[in-house]
Amino acid sequence: MIFTVAIDGPAAAGKGTVGRAVAAHFGFAHLDTGLLYRAVGALVREGAEPVAAARGLVPEALEKPGLRSPEVAQAASEVAAIGEVRAALLDFQRGFARREGGAVLDGRDIGTVICPEAEVKLFVTASAEARAGRRLAELVEAGHAANFDSVLADVQARDARDSERATAPLRPADDAHLLDTSELDVAQAVAAAIAKVSAALGR
Ligand code: DC
Repeated sequence: MIFTVAIDGPAAAGKGTVGRAVAAHFGFAHLDTGLLYRAVGALVREGAEPVAAARGLVPEALEKPGLRSPEVAQAASEVAAIGEVRAALLDFQRGFARREGGAVLDGRDIGTVICPEAEVKLFVTASAEARAGRRLAELVEAGHAANFDSVLADVQARDARDSERATAPLRPADDAHLLDTSELDVAQAVAAAIAKVSAALGR
């Protein structure tokens, strides 16, 4: 069975949590596409040229420690604005989306560019303040020093760059279901997403 769940939305809206839970529930493969851009961003911070880094990306690069740091997030957001970097990562993501057995991909352009034919499209969002609060908790948990105002500024700067870039800007696909998680806990957000996928599967 070929069945793709495309999950898009801004940073820290809960896409990854929802994506992993949906994949586990239905037994689908899951790809956090932000990790591809983070891996390229990390290589650029080490001195690599962005397009060459994207073209030569190997699976082990996604396992590198530190990909979740704010510095790498910033670098990821910058390389993600380069059209040739996005083009280099396209075939891998498309192949993953249409693999046998079902796939969930989360990112910014999955429903609009990578897999417009996805059977289910979710646009997961939340207020900038709610997202900054969650990201701060994650950073503190992971041992990074951070404060709310700087995390909020970082979230807003990334929102602006991700939404305003010329290539594949962040926006909901016309046929995406909007899921605002500002007032939802994880279980409620996951249940809402599972309900949409179940309806599309006819289960
Ligand atoms: O989801 P994330 O925070 O790990 O994403 C890191 C950066 O990568 C983010 O600033 C936007 C970019 N990105 C993108 O442009 N397209 C995707 N499909 C996924 C992430």
